[in-house]
Amino acid sequence: MPKVLFAVSEAHPLIKTGGLADFAGSLPVALQELRHDVRLVLPAYRPVLAQARAWREVARLELPGHQAARILEGALPGTRVTCWLVHAPEWFDRPGGPYADAGGHDWPDNAARYALFARAVAQLALDEAGLNWRAGVVHCSDWQTGLVPALLSREAERPATLFTIHNLAYQGLFPAAQFPALNLPAALWGHDGLEFHGQLSFIKGGLIYADRINTVSPTYAGEITTPALGYGLEGLLRHRAAHLSGILNGVDYRVWDPARDPLIIRNYSPAGLAHKAANKAWLQQHCALPAQEHIPLIGMVGRLVEQKGIDLLLAALPQLMKLPLQLVLLGSGARHFEDALQDWARRYPEQLSVRIGYNEELAHRIEAGADMFLMPSRFEPCGLNQLYSLRYGTVPIVRRTGGLADTVVDAGADNLKRDRATGIVFSEESGAALLDAVRRALNLFSGGATWHALMLAGMRQDYSWQASARRYSALYQQAMAERR
Ligand code: ADP
Ligand code: GLC
Repeated sequence: MPKVLFAVSEAHPLIKTGGLADFAGSLPVALQELRHDVRLVLPAYRPVLAQARAWREVARLELPGHQAARILEGALPGTRVTCWLVHAPEWFDRPGGPYADAGGHDWPDNAARYALFARAVAQLALDEAGLNWRAGVVHCSDWQTGLVPALLSREAERPATLFTIHNLAYQGLFPAAQFPALNLPAALWGHDGLEFHGQLSFIKGGLIYADRINTVSPTYAGEITTPALGYGLEGLLRHRAAHLSGILNGVDYRVWDPARDPLIIRNYSPAGLAHKAANKAWLQQHCALPAQEHIPLIGMVGRLVEQKGIDLLLAALPQLMKLPLQLVLLGSGARHFEDALQDWARRYPEQLSVRIGYNEELAHRIEAGADMFLMPSRFEPCGLNQLYSLRYGTVPIVRRTGGLADTVVDAGADNLKRDRATGIVFSEESGAALLDAVRRALNLFSGGATWHALMLAGMRQDYSWQASARRYSALYQQAMAERR
């Protein structure tokens, strides 16, 4: 089994802005269960350092043009996965988020920060830190680690590289003028390198130089080779189609399972589904909504950005608010979406509750308390909340795209009859289609037994990481065999 260096810019529970952290907090554990020797490496951001006080320094890395970075070693909390932190205080020990300050503005030195991180990862992979550990495969995720395959491609004796695309919309684009300051090999510049229409593209480092590329669902792997979702990179991705595949994310059922979730009001399982009601009652009370047991309650949690179809929701809201339903939304993101949603909540306090912010506990309680979960995404590389919703018996209403299309089976007559249906799926990117889907959900909800069957079918689905980890393991072997 090859040794795996798992390089990533966030990992639950140390630091999280979205699904990437859930991915990095659980796949390494599943890989370890398959007997891979895995090391997780991430930047030592301030909130991470606060949780890693007792971690020990195991190495120092000399990085050209920078002060030496220290490598701190510990276990990813709650697991036995060894984690290395790249401690370069000048770059990572600061208030705010990993990629942006508290006001949401990207850190102006992001190119330098993640170039430094990439160098550290490459040195660790090549056993240049004196840790007596050499990677067989380096598994990178998203643009923040894009330079790792590029840097390693220059080495004669190098590990294989896999680059996972979690979201092609984020590419790590910077002005070309920043390239010289990063001290990267000049040969990496150019159309067949890190240049993208006159800009410096970090993600291209992964797309061009990694031995293998994958996305987090099979459908999204196809979608990004089309102009609609390829963001100008579809040509390159088609060119690499033989090395591109899709592996669905899994769920960490240690964290997301209503039978043992410590964050929810009352645990429940398929056999004791009636206990879900206590979670709904709490949510209604917490959100100052009328405590009615039989009114359908729709939940939504996520980043309030274009990707998530917030504009489709806004387009449908005038009609939605005429229906007998309650809607609880938790999220943060683009200011104009936050403001518009809050306006609507002020107008319909009995039906709509909007919480702006990031709140892990409330996210779990919405999954547990809602009857339905809405994800009208314009695109969705995988999506995790619909998978959590299935397990929580909270019927997902989703747009047919990416991982949503791969994981939710529409409650059409035929699927219902065969007991295969797990949610409501709509196709068109419009407020009208969203509205129509919600109407269908309400109809089924009032149908009692059918709804109950739909909930149970969702709860039976098994998206645990084991199966996906085996696919990653096979991909590592393939990457090693095909190393260019
Ligand atoms: P993405 O990674 O595109 O944001 P995913 O569905 O893959 O979407 O994962 C989102 C993850 O982040 C989920 O675990 C979700 O619960 C969590 N999340 C998103 N926004 C919030 C929020 N405002 N508060 C708490 N958790 C959130
Ligand atoms: C990205 C995608 C999301 C996916 C997550 C984890 O943030 O937007 O769909 O689930 O990565 O892979």
